[in-house]
Amino acid sequence: MSAQGLGIAAASIHTIGALLADAEGNLKEAGIEQPALEAAWLLEYVLELSPLMQRVKPECQVTAAEWVRVQALVARRANREPLQYVLGTQEFCGREFRVTPAVLIPRPESALLVDETVHRCKENLAATVVDVGTGSGCLAVSVAAALPTARVLAIDVSPEALAVARINMVQHGLDGRIECFCGDLLAPLSEGLSANQGDVILSNPPYIAEIDWMTLQPEVRCFEPRLALAGGRDGMDLYRRLLQQAPAYLKPGGVLLMEVGAGQAASVCRQAEETGWFRVYDVLRDEGGIDRVVCCERKGDGAGL
Ligand SMILES: C[S@@+](CC[C@H](N)C(=O)[O-])C[C@H]1O[C@@H](n2cnc3c(N)ncnc32)[C@H](O)[C@@H]1O
Repeated sequence: MSAQGLGIAAASIHTIGALLADAEGNLKEAGIEQPALEAAWLLEYVLELSPLMQRVKPECQVTAAEWVRVQALVARRANREPLQYVLGTQEFCGREFRVTPAVLIPRPESALLVDETVHRCKENLAATVVDVGTGSGCLAVSVAAALPTARVLAIDVSPEALAVARINMVQHGLDGRIECFCGDLLAPLSEGLSANQGDVILSNPPYIAEIDWMTLQPEVRCFEPRLALAGGRDGMDLYRRLLQQAPAYLKPGGVLLMEVGAGQAASVCRQAEETGWFRVYDVLRDEGGIDRVVCCERKGDGAGL
């Protein structure tokens, strides 16, 4: 099909500069916060040309096919689809992860879970670590890479999410190191882990309360999986269940690390202490100053009975 046939007017607009300006204009009109930056990234993806080189060579020609491909990606982004789904990747803890709409896009604050896990296990060469709600596998992969002799288990209730996690495990050469299970919270561990063998259970569970659902950005509410976000009426469903189930799988002195939403830390700490099984030993703040990760240590046998 010719450029005219595709609705592209004159050869003069087939330049990087014109394509960049057009993409930026469309994204700006759609209310995207950083239209120039995102336009450059979309061009980079299609043209394999860095944003710097796009600026240096605005007069370079692009083909009609490239023009159409960029336009299609811009239209998806203008429809508020997250840039990470459009490009198919997100960086986390220094690694690139494949992301699809089956998985939550990894957030930088979740790296606190990885850092604390590594800190707790650095002198325990045979540590057993369980990632509950693994999604893209970003936490399990980062932990397995940082703790080369640890046993790492990853669980998700979504088979579609686990398929993406497996792609990431293969991509980073860690598929032989991480055992994957599909099922509800810790239930699959009855096949994979004996009682009281876990050193760390870490989880970034769904924690959005029903009342907060409509306040989410369209990128999140309309595109990220509801299963990865919605935590029941008050957002606490998964914490309550994890706190009940985790003591059976943790060693005395083992830890349960839970990412929490803004304003949820105090309630999660209280619930953890109320089980009688846990001592909250820290609450980690993210870079925005929000209490983000509740760290609980399992007390000795019989403590909660
Ligand atoms: C907030 S996402 C976290 C994904 C990833 N760990 C991260 O930090 O980016 C929560 C994940 O928990 C999974 N999930 C939701 N309910 C679950 C359940 N009952 N049992 C196991 N996994 C569950 C979802 O499918 C989703 O992948």
